[in-house]
Amino acid sequence: MLAGKNILLIISGGIAAYKSLQLVRLLSKEGAKVVPVMTKSAEQFVTPLSVSALAGESVRTNLFDLEDEAEMGHIELTRAADLVVVAPATAGLMAKMAGGLADDLASTLLLASNKRIMLAPAMNVAMWENPATVRNLKLLREDGRIIVGPDEGEMACGEYGPGRMAEPEVILEAIRSEFADGPMRGKRVLITSGPTHEPIDPVRYIANRSSGLQGTEIAREFVKMGAEVVFVTGPADAERPKGAEVVEVETALEMEAAVNTAGEFDVAVFAAAVADWRVDTVSSGKIKKEAGRPLPKLSFVENPDILKTVSRRQKGRPTLVIGFAAETDDVIENATAKRIRKGCDWILANDVSGDRPVMGGPDNQVVLISENAAETWPWMTKRQVAHALAAKVSEVLE
Ligand code: CTP
Repeated sequence: MLAGKNILLIISGGIAAYKSLQLVRLLSKEGAKVVPVMTKSAEQFVTPLSVSALAGESVRTNLFDLEDEAEMGHIELTRAADLVVVAPATAGLMAKMAGGLADDLASTLLLASNKRIMLAPAMNVAMWENPATVRNLKLLREDGRIIVGPDEGEMACGEYGPGRMAEPEVILEAIRSEFADGPMRGKRVLITSGPTHEPIDPVRYIANRSSGLQGTEIAREFVKMGAEVVFVTGPADAERPKGAEVVEVETALEMEAAVNTAGEFDVAVFAAAVADWRVDTVSSGKIKKEAGRPLPKLSFVENPDILKTVSRRQKGRPTLVIGFAAETDDVIENATAKRIRKGCDWILANDVSGDRPVMGGPDNQVVLISENAAETWPWMTKRQVAHALAAKVSEVLE
């Protein structure tokens, strides 16, 4: 799929730069031509020699290198590329991009590029969570940049949290999906998935049985069809879909914020089992069990209805908004009313009361309710449901 594709790979300076060597190897193995560019600080982490040996191309590092300019100027470098990939993308380089700064070869290429740009952020967790980075990320998304990762986990600096660069295999998958020729090519799809966790105190929370499998399968189908997929997920068991931009959240409020900052979409599928209520006042310390003390009482406030808010957007509403309805009685009547109440285009209703568990199980049986019809689909695997749904969506969008 990548044979003959020209990937301009910008490596900026972070400990994750060593992983970009593996990315170069994977891309070369697929037949892509990798044109590497390194920032000055990247050279502190990996040597240009090892990068150029793997890429089979000389590494560009200097904006004013006459030899390189004679060979190919920086404008031409970006024009010849089919895709620009920044891996790792440091907080500093992302800030330059967001602000339109060009003071070295990497940032100048990025500003001069008229191609799709993919970023694989990598930084310390505090940098990732810094309001400035959050702001920059939002701007970059609005500018149409594709964000892959970061992962959450133990970091090179010893801290734990989000900020670790996505694995090279995952970045490769995202690159592949950029070139995937499919009916959803050029379309942006938002998917919410999994449960939300609503905290009671630092050790306890309220959750539900959603495994996130149905949402994940839907994301996979849309990635396969060439769409750009943003996957906002609560703490779910299902493995994250490769090739999608994954945004991990915990609570309904975080899910709402992630959806609101993710930009505009052609299609939005709300597969998440969002908690309807959250605990009014979350205790900052663990609620203790003490003899003679009255049992704790929880009071709740309503969470925002994310599906309803997006369905009723005045500006930038997706062409197609799809919700789910988990019902235990009068499935079709309740889901039909729910579709109208929420203002979405389609609702996939399922009966979650039967003996065969839908939530947490591998299969699903849905009724697709639209303005004029209620189509009952047979029992299928969640992958088959996802496939049928994605096929129907792409038919409608044509
Ligand atoms: N949903 C949402 N935000 C919420 C609650 C639900 O986006 N705060 C979305 C779900 O992702 C799903 C749809 O709304 O697509 C319906 O969810 P469901 O739980 O069936 O409906 P509720 O509105 O919670 O109604 P009820 O629980 O009363 O049946």
